[in-house]
Amino acid sequence: MPKPRDALARPLRDLRLSVIDACNFRCPYCMPADRIADDHGLDAASRLSFDEIETLVRGFARLGVRKLRLTGGEPLLRKRLPELVARLAAIDGIEDLALTTNGSLLAAHAHALRDAGLKRITVSLDTLDADAFRALSGVRGELRAVLAGIEAASAAGFGPIKLNCVIQRGVNDAGIETLAAFAREHGHLLRFIEYMDVGTCNGWSRERVVPSAEVRDRIAAVWPLRALDPNYRGEVAERYAYQDGSGEVGFVSSVSAPFCGDCHRARVSADGMLYTCLFAGQGHALREVLAAGEVALAAHVVALWSKRADRYSEVRSEAGASRKHVEMYLVGG
Ligand code: GTP
Ligand code: 5AD
Ligand code: SF4
Ligand code: SF4
Repeated sequence: MPKPRDALARPLRDLRLSVIDACNFRCPYCMPADRIADDHGLDAASRLSFDEIETLVRGFARLGVRKLRLTGGEPLLRKRLPELVARLAAIDGIEDLALTTNGSLLAAHAHALRDAGLKRITVSLDTLDADAFRALSGVRGELRAVLAGIEAASAAGFGPIKLNCVIQRGVNDAGIETLAAFAREHGHLLRFIEYMDVGTCNGWSRERVVPSAEVRDRIAAVWPLRALDPNYRGEVAERYAYQDGSGEVGFVSSVSAPFCGDCHRARVSADGMLYTCLFAGQGHALREVLAAGEVALAAHVVALWSKRADRYSEVRSEAGASRKHVEMYLVGG
């Protein structure tokens, strides 16, 4: 099957697949507790089954997808996740299989995920202050559970663990150096993510965005940095090495330095909707065509991908840029 290019000549290389839309946290920038009910979530029948997910991933692999990232909501809330991981790890063409999690349930599952064939884990960690952590999780999470999860993942052989840290001015920016020191000490790969206007309910304001250059300069003032070349074309994070040899740090600058030009990521929600951009206003239902098998699915996705012209982060400030976006917890970031 020919490998598709979108309307801006971008290939399809990565699939980010949400396995569940529920989360045990209520981070204010993603699922604010006053907007998203406690019992929020699809019923089990609305979620793609493991059989459907396997067919879906086989279809995307036919189109050249080599990298698969499982997301949520919180993916570890999906029952029997290691069983799904084992099925996906066995698919021809899927070379990289990663998971993004809030880490709270990771201690219990890290070994089983490793045994199932998961290759990499990214944990969201915005602060190392226990009280601030509680607040940033919508008063649902405990820092020590997440730290235990990170340790368990390292012990299970996942190291280096990637840590995603969203910085908001006046909220957690005081902890930038503390987070960097922690990651350096433990050999984790820390990545600072600019606070984004995802979804419709996170109360985003530009004043609260801390540009990556500012975070980078603060870190470099303590530990001098040297810019690194990308690991691959279209890498999301810009990476820097610590000049003293203590690892690296990355910056995802979707607001100050958009990277849509090389964007080769498709996202599929737990109920089987395809979103061709993190900021897409609308998805494309795949469930029906999935029933016809992986070849039919692949052909359908080719048709959708060839029309894709998304570049939201590059047009964010322009008049007329739509404010209607899919919610972050449906597409997992
Ligand atoms: P690696 O596979 O390790 O290179 O990671 P990745 O960049 O594929 O995935 P990760 O989920 O760790 O990305 C980090 C964060 O960057 C995400 O949670 C999003 O917040 C943001 N991000 C990732 N991809 C995109 C994108 O295509 N557009 C925008 N605007 N942000 C993105
Ligand atoms: N801006 C930037 N990153 C966000 N994430 C969730 N909401 C936002 C936002 N508004 C991040 C989470 C997690 C990843 C999946 O996306 O912190 O690390
Ligand atoms: Fe849950 Fe992650 Fe959203 Fe926080 S950012 S509410 S942990 S899905
Ligand atoms: Fe890709 Fe959309 Fe992010 Fe641009 S804003 S990099 S098109 S997901």
